[in-house]
Amino acid sequence: GKGEHRHFMHKEIYEQPQVIGDTLNTMFNPVSRTFSLPDLPFALSGIDRVTIIACGTSYYAGMVAKYWIEQLARVSVEVDIASEFRYRAPAMPKGGLALFISQSGETADTLAALRYCQAQGQHIISLVNVPESTMARESEVALQTVAGPEIGVASTKAFTTQLTALACLSLVLARARGAIDHATEERLSKVLIEVPARVAEVLAHDERLREIAEDIMDARDVLYLGRGTSYPIALEGALKLKEISYIHAEGYAAGEMKHGPIALIDETVPVIVIAPSDELYDKTASNVQEVVARGGRVIFLSDEKGVARLGARAVSLVLPNVDPFVAPILYAIPVQLLAYHVAVAKGTDVDQPRNLAKSVTVE
Ligand code: F6R
Repeated sequence: GKGEHRHFMHKEIYEQPQVIGDTLNTMFNPVSRTFSLPDLPFALSGIDRVTIIACGTSYYAGMVAKYWIEQLARVSVEVDIASEFRYRAPAMPKGGLALFISQSGETADTLAALRYCQAQGQHIISLVNVPESTMARESEVALQTVAGPEIGVASTKAFTTQLTALACLSLVLARARGAIDHATEERLSKVLIEVPARVAEVLAHDERLREIAEDIMDARDVLYLGRGTSYPIALEGALKLKEISYIHAEGYAAGEMKHGPIALIDETVPVIVIAPSDELYDKTASNVQEVVARGGRVIFLSDEKGVARLGARAVSLVLPNVDPFVAPILYAIPVQLLAYHVAVAKGTDVDQPRNLAKSVTVE
């Protein structure tokens, strides 16, 4: 049941500290204080090309993983939408790693892409939330998110547990390839282990996000901006909002603003900016100035330092200070809660949005 929560989506958002912890525990070795994978039938050290394939929210988790794997493991990563990938029938040199991300493990296009990659001689790893799913059965290795059943159609805890498992995988791959030194691996492992506690802190902003949602509920369009790993979180925030509140929303790479979407900015379009203090903060902040200068209404998600540096030019939310490595996991939560509260304020069917199915087993 929903317990004290009004909707499954809200309950599942609140389960995130627990299920992220459960997912970390499947890969954490308390003796070495680092992460490892189950035994693999191939050597990760020999992997020099990774292809990640998924749909929807799972695809955005894959986009974050591309940044992590490229930066930490120094391997080239391609990430694609399953329905595009499968019909493009791309050439794939043998021995690459193909990684499939799916909550259900049954999504038709992702499964078809998996079978295609198998025929192309790729090593197949899936990351699923349903261990007995078709994708898990057809993979060489099935990694699992331990999110538990996700009832709300809009994915929440499945997404953050996917990110968690992918962060662990990135560290393991980086170690296998000798791309990361031991001190860095230990430090980032520690940062990951502390994520559940940080997520619990973010949940404390629920009421504030409900207030901010009141400012958004009457908008016709909403823009979400981010750079680096915050870019996929912007895309995810926009997807959450459109699927449950039916407001048109778009996620954009902040640096792309001036190449078109800035023409949309006026006082009627809320612009939600995902801007943790990281090496790209200054660039994002300067995009925010451009929006403010055109009368845009900015909602700025950052940490203490980031909010202080921006000044009083935006409505802001102060999130915990975290290492940039785990910021996308943390910043996924406020965009979920924001979409949730907008949908509740509008009176839509939050758990069963119109036209959507939990598992898309047709093309
Ligand atoms: C969005 C959402 C969908 C799924 C997509 C893939 O909230 O739930 O976009 O992420 O249909 O589903 P899975 O992960 O089951 O392959």
